[in-house]
Amino acid sequence: MKLRAVLFDAYGTLFDVHSVALLAEQLFPGRGEALSVLWRDKQIEYSRLVSMSGGAGPQGSAHYRPFWELTRAALRYSAERLGLAWSEGTEARLMNEYRHLSAFPENREVLAALKQRGVPAAILSNGDPDMLDVAVKSAGFAELLDAVISVHPARRFKTDPAAYALGTDALRLPAREILFVSSNGWDAIGATWFGYTTLWVNRAGLPLDPLGTEPSHRGRSLRDVLPLIPERPSFD
Ligand code: LAC
Repeated sequence: MKLRAVLFDAYGTLFDVHSVALLAEQLFPGRGEALSVLWRDKQIEYSRLVSMSGGAGPQGSAHYRPFWELTRAALRYSAERLGLAWSEGTEARLMNEYRHLSAFPENREVLAALKQRGVPAAILSNGDPDMLDVAVKSAGFAELLDAVISVHPARRFKTDPAAYALGTDALRLPAREILFVSSNGWDAIGATWFGYTTLWVNRAGLPLDPLGTEPSHRGRSLRDVLPLIPERPSFD
């Protein structure tokens, strides 16, 4: 199998969604990790809720709301559920932290190596274009990526096939010739179902969701992309 391009998930894969836990811990000592975990879980739950309940028309889900709004809703819910003393200022600080998440340390060298090998690299993310733009620029990845693809035009979130199809459409390649890289187990499975060749970067050493589907490859860091990609891409 010739892999001709690499498509990265953003949140959790390139950007560390749990880097917000540090600020959360400063604001709410002893509760930072709980807030960060519940916030992420609810954010993903809301993305599925609005995708699944909004009808199957070409205009996307009637309940679609940009990922940034769902992220804020998830934060509000989590704070209330955990009984945290809340203020507009606290919310603004945490949302601002989410806008500028830390990138994982090995990303830059991997993206630079792909560029050097002449292999197109892009993001396909649930994030909306504005939040992705800020995250990519603040991590300094803009010049290393060929495209930053948001699901926003499809008004559906991964794991809806319409969301995954934005990647094949943009790269103009069959899904199996694209290496789709995600640290989110559910995303690696959804992308495998869609037809991508997949690498699950299992940073946290979590068990695979036992749904009868194995990602094409497994790894522990973004560096595990490189052995799968030829030094010089073959176009035969
Ligand atoms: C992304 C989130 C869901 O699509 O990880 O970037």
